[in-house]
Amino acid sequence: MVVSAHPDATLIGVQVLRRGGNAVDAAVAVSFALAGCEPYSSGLGGGGFFILFDSDSGLVQSLDARETAPASAHRDMYLVDGKPESDLSQNGPLAVGVPGLVAGLWQLHQQGGRLPWSDLVMAAARTVKGLKVSPMLHDRLSYKSEYFNSSARKVFLPGGVLPEVGTIIHQDDLFFTMKSIAELGPEAFYSGPVADAIVSVTNSGITRADLENYEPRWRKPIHGRYRGLDVYSMAPPSSGGVHLIQMLNILEFFDLRNSGFGSAFTVHLLAEAMKFAYADRSRFWGDTDFVQVPVQRLTGLAHADSLRNLIDLQRAYPENKIIGAELSDEESLETTHLSIVDADGNAVAATLTINLTFGSCLMAPGTGIFMNNEMDDFVAAPGSPNAFGLVGGEANSVAPGKRPLSSMTPTVVLQDGRVRMVTGAPGGSKIITTTMQTIINVVDHQMDALQAVSAPRVHHQWYPRLLYFEKFGLSPDTIQILENMGHRLESRSPMCNAQIIVVDPDSGLLHGASDSRGMGLASGF
Ligand code: GLY
Repeated sequence: MVVSAHPDATLIGVQVLRRGGNAVDAAVAVSFALAGCEPYSSGLGGGGFFILFDSDSGLVQSLDARETAPASAHRDMYLVDGKPESDLSQNGPLAVGVPGLVAGLWQLHQQGGRLPWSDLVMAAARTVKGLKVSPMLHDRLSYKSEYFNSSARKVFLPGGVLPEVGTIIHQDDLFFTMKSIAELGPEAFYSGPVADAIVSVTNSGITRADLENYEPRWRKPIHGRYRGLDVYSMAPPSSGGVHLIQMLNILEFFDLRNSGFGSAFTVHLLAEAMKFAYADRSRFWGDTDFVQVPVQRLTGLAHADSLRNLIDLQRAYPENKIIGAELSDEESLETTHLSIVDADGNAVAATLTINLTFGSCLMAPGTGIFMNNEMDDFVAAPGSPNAFGLVGGEANSVAPGKRPLSSMTPTVVLQDGRVRMVTGAPGGSKIITTTMQTIINVVDHQMDALQAVSAPRVHHQWYPRLLYFEKFGLSPDTIQILENMGHRLESRSPMCNAQIIVVDPDSGLLHGASDSRGMGLASGF
């Protein structure tokens, strides 16, 4: 079973499985395919995180292919007259981190792939060569293409105009870049002409040395237990795993099944758990290669107990009484996720990104590759007090070689040592709460995969002091009860685009579901 945010990428993954490839092989092909099918979400110019489950050994591993700050980066590089300038960290050459995806996929394949690397990459390359403009791509191009550099315009605005839905975009440069990566491996990306093009498009902000020195990292996955299941997710530099486990630890104490999906009481409990977790997230986030993050404490049961004891069952806890620190103001709505389980019960969950829509909007000339703007995930002005006089963000300040903090939460849930669920989503800070709600929907509310991924979601991130809900996601009387409890609610357009697989624990049958909020596909055999 393969579930991804684009039908063509899913079908490539299924083809790989049919040819005898395993979950890792399919993940490599799907990741390359998504890079070309969803150029606004992820790509070779970006990075990602992977959780792998090996059914033979029972081992769960995680791979960090996050971008790093180049050697020339420094703490105050986005300050102008002492104030953070988001244009510098979001658009143009200074926004770009050293890409990790290609090196990560190579590592992944070396570790557990079965089919030849070149076959997997070429399968994706052939798929992305001619890309049909979807309504989603058309929408993204309509508001973002004005920021494109000339290389990107040449590919995505043929004849200088916004292409109609259904037009075929010719990604010949991307095809040839992928072909060289298929033949030569990651060297074709991190040295040679592609590397030169990256150096040139970033005005040497990224150097050949930065590219040659890039290394993905194997990390110990974050592990927690929830109602007898083992939950494995991503460790720092992603905040996803830690706070997913923290929220589940808080919620495990409550009988959510009995309080029911969407009831005011259940939503109240979710909001309170989210609020406490996101306040901690704002204080402690950072790259553990550079700073200490108290992972054990945050994911421990004692910490969950102390937070749960603060929850008033009748009243919303005031946000200003929770200690936290200033958050970065904008997080990506793009990014992408894929979930795969193969015939042997191996699984891969991967969340991939170039950060904001089309990343930095810079395409490395002659490569077809959009460069990320992941540098915007660092805190641009650490040390400045926020509205509450709290000084924060130092842990996630810019430093050479450092990885910016992420919310990406690829997750594998095991029951008695076998896959029960593979899940994850894009959506910036909402990724963690979305992933959690897919798990609660299955485990507590006993929904099937399609129900679990489609059900309306809520989100609270401590600040702003708002409980977000999807339009039509809560009934008017539920909203009224929550307001009476002290919550401030705001409706939002659909949140996130989750891709999940749920395994029936009795029959072993795989149920895949791609979020109806997106255009993806679940397919299997
Ligand atoms: N750039 C989005 C994330 O890493 O969470």
